[in-house]
This record gives sequence, C-alpha cells and structure tokens, in this order.
Amino acid sequence: MEVPPPLVLKRPLYVPSKTLMGPGPSNCSHRVLEAMSNPVLGHMHPECLQIMDEVKEGIKYIFQTLNDATMCISGAGHSGMEASLCNLIEDGDVVLMGITGVWGHRAGDMARRYGAEVHYVEASFGRALSLEEITFAFEAHRPRVFFIAQGDSSTGIYQQNIRELGELCRKYDCFLVVDTVASLGGAEFLMDEWKVDVAYTGSQKSLGGPAGITPISFSKRALTRIRKRKTKPKVYYFDILLIGQYWGCYGTPRIYHHTISSTLLYGLREALAHFCAVGLKAVVRRHQECSKRLQLGIEELGLEMFVQREEERLSTVNTIKVPFGVDWKKVAEYAMRKYSVEISGGLGPTVEHVFRIGLMGENATVERVDMVLSILNEAIQSSKLGIKTERSK
Ligand code: GLV
Repeated sequence: MEVPPPLVLKRPLYVPSKTLMGPGPSNCSHRVLEAMSNPVLGHMHPECLQIMDEVKEGIKYIFQTLNDATMCISGAGHSGMEASLCNLIEDGDVVLMGITGVWGHRAGDMARRYGAEVHYVEASFGRALSLEEITFAFEAHRPRVFFIAQGDSSTGIYQQNIRELGELCRKYDCFLVVDTVASLGGAEFLMDEWKVDVAYTGSQKSLGGPAGITPISFSKRALTRIRKRKTKPKVYYFDILLIGQYWGCYGTPRIYHHTISSTLLYGLREALAHFCAVGLKAVVRRHQECSKRLQLGIEELGLEMFVQREEERLSTVNTIKVPFGVDWKKVAEYAMRKYSVEISGGLGPTVEHVFRIGLMGENATVERVDMVLSILNEAIQSSKLGIKTERSK
C-alpha cells in the first residue's frame, strides 16, 4: 500500500498571534523573530562557530560566571536538567532533590535513570525550603549531588537561599545543581560568587528567545569531577566533555558532536544581545516591579496569591488561587477566545488550584500587567455569570 501525501499539508501554514502570559514560552521580540529568518549556516561553518562564541559570552554574563564549560544543549529546558544529572551522576551516587513543586520530582526521575540513589527533601505546601530543612537532609543522606530550582514554575515559589546552599554543598563535598529555567532574569543569580556547580536556564522565558536551545554552565570543580568519572556519561548526546569541544570550551580543536540549529542560535544570540544591552540588574528590576504591580492588582480584585510569603514569590511566574466555585479552565478559555491571551492553570501540586500568570521578557511591562489583570477579572466574572445562568435554567 502506498501512503499518499497528506491533504493537510496542502493547506497554507496557519499560526495565530497570541499573547503568551503563561509560564512560558513568552513572546519573542521582532528582533529575535527576524534573526531566525536568516539563511541557515552549516554547523561547522566558521560564521556559525563565531556566533556560538558570542552566545557563550552572553551566557557567562547572564549567569555571572567565568566558567570555561559554558555552552548550550540543543534541546528544551529539560535537556539542561538531563545534562546536569547525566554528567555528574555515576551508579550508586546519592542524590538529594529539593522539592518546592514538580521540578525536583522530575529531576529525581531522571537521576534514578542515571543510576542514582535518590532522596527528597520537601518543603511544606506553598513554601520554599529553609536552610535548616536542607541541612537536616544533608546530615541524613550525605548526598553527592543536590538539586534545587531557584524558581519553581509549577508553584511560583522562589528559593532565596542559593548562596547559603553553595556554602552547605562545599561543606559536605556535594555538587550544587541549580535550575534557573523560570527564575533567571526575574531574580539575582550569581553563579561563581554563590559557588553553584551547574546552572542551566530556559531560552524561552525571561530571555525571550526561542525554545529548544538551553544555556548551561559547569564550574571548574564539576568539570574536574566529570573528567575523573570511572565510566562515561550514560548519554552520548548530553556528554559535556564532547559538547564543550564542539563549543570550543576547552582550548582543543572543535569537533562535530551534533548538528546545532543555526536558526535557534541566531534567535538566542539576539535575545542575549538585548538582555545584555538592557543590563542584568535593570532586567531583574523590571520583572520584580511588574510582579509587584500584579500582586497589588490581584489584591485589589479580592483575589489571593498562592505563595503566602512575599519574599518567597517568584516574579516571573505568578500563582494566584482560583476562587471558590470558579472553573479555572473556563477562565483560561475565555481569555484565549476573546483576547488571544494565554493565562495558564496549575501544574503538578497546583493543578486546579491556581492560575499561573507569566510576566517574562517582552511581556514584563506595566501595560501587559494591567491588561492581564483586567482580562483575568472579566474572565472570572464571566465564568461566575455562566454558573448563575446554568443554575437558573
Ligand atoms: C513549564 O515550564 C511550566 O511550568 O509549565
């Protein structure tokens, strides 16, 4: 039997324009979108390698690091999580996961596949982890690797004490992996000063770049440990000794490891260039100011933030309790149908409980905050009216 060409592909490509105010991706700027329509380059062409070098410099700036092993993994944010764990873990290693939402569990699932003995230290619902809670778990398990998300996009929790965790990890001879996918650009992050061993972030959140290319950096200490592994990392694609050679990190000739998407590279390069031009501190300040304005507006609407303590609220992904009797799905559908605006529901432990509003990159502006507040309010009122009409039938 011959499979005919599909009819659907005879139609023109259809892509609607939406305002992405969920947990990511955020909208890309015209600069980023235009950059991505440049001609494709070969993955070993000198011009492509030059752009990779420029991207590397941008990543060092956003992480505030001088690490040589700074590069991108060709894959979504998840690939940063995979690469961190794949390179650091050997069979039987004890790994401790900090849990403030779904991401620690996801990392635990991955770590187990790489042969680790996994333990968890879980924060109380809606709270960040205290240094005491984590220290207690370190005493009990003596981990080789500790994972924590600086910002958990499923709960909107911000973990403030990364600097102290860097000290703790050195004391216990443990490697600190920090997921900054949702937090970078919305909170301070000083990789070298805080003694973070591995950090990765999302290209598609506060950076406003395309998804599918993930900035990552390994400390000298982590690199030394990886070079001394008894066995090779279990996944060739995530082996940072190889990827780093492709990215020109180690002063050795470039090797072919995989075919990078030059298109994504252009987009990320321009997103980083914009971020660097505005400046890290100004970017963080803007995200925090927008979040404060949103939180104030939420209060004025008589709604409640999910994270009780202000200092534990992530500025980029804001979680708002779904009021009693309101169907979050109807609210999200209303916002999308009427305004083409994405308001997201919860994830993992917050499913059905919260709305998630992302204020990231292009969408972290006063105008967008006021717009999303007004739409959220209208959508909630409309869903309440819907319930009343249903009842009176
Ligand atoms: C993705 O990062 C999400 O939180 O949904």
